[in-house]
Amino acid sequence: MNPEFAPFEFKTLVNGKDTIVGADVEIAKAIAKELGVKVEFSAMSFNNVLSSVQSGKADLGISGISATKERQKVYDFSDTYYESVNVVIVKKSELAKYKKTNSFKGLSVATQKGTIQETVAKEQLTGAKIVSLVQNGEMINELKSGQVNGVVLEKPIAEGYVAKNDDLAIAQIKLKSSSSDAYAVAMPKGSSTLKKKVDKVIKNLKSK
Ligand code: ARG
Repeated sequence: MNPEFAPFEFKTLVNGKDTIVGADVEIAKAIAKELGVKVEFSAMSFNNVLSSVQSGKADLGISGISATKERQKVYDFSDTYYESVNVVIVKKSELAKYKKTNSFKGLSVATQKGTIQETVAKEQLTGAKIVSLVQNGEMINELKSGQVNGVVLEKPIAEGYVAKNDDLAIAQIKLKSSSSDAYAVAMPKGSSTLKKKVDKVIKNLKSK
């Protein structure tokens, strides 16, 4: 996972120790329990999460991963567990400037490398220059310092950053999202037995 994605996976101090926590961590633990194994979390940049599953370095990828049609060609995915919506974060002082999808014409917008937000921004923010960065924290810093004018993230993640940064706000811009943007657990192709177990866990957690 890429634990820079609160509330799904992020690092925090637990009893003085740097620990990965969040909703995806709870899902992973529940899957491990169902399988009768001990889960080991491996932190990496998001653009390496899916390739680690493909190469077998990781057994599962859980990282707020959207189960897009394209990714479905390469990976098996569990049933989805969260519907995502994309938003644009801007500086609070510039909120009035960005009201439409073409408001970023000729300006820079940051997205996280390897995410669907790269495509969402390219396709929907007409005329914007898309800057792909590896870390979400880096995107936020570049927005605060004025190197980029907007950051595209999914709503709960964006709200987390806005809550911690007085100078930022979510723009009143409507971005389209597709049903295949919903989050699911990624597995290597041919994981039908594993998928059944993972789906059972997700169904259980959803009904709680
Ligand atoms: N849902 C988006 C995608 O699958 C973004 C996921 C980013 N996750 C993360 N832990 N940084 O492309």
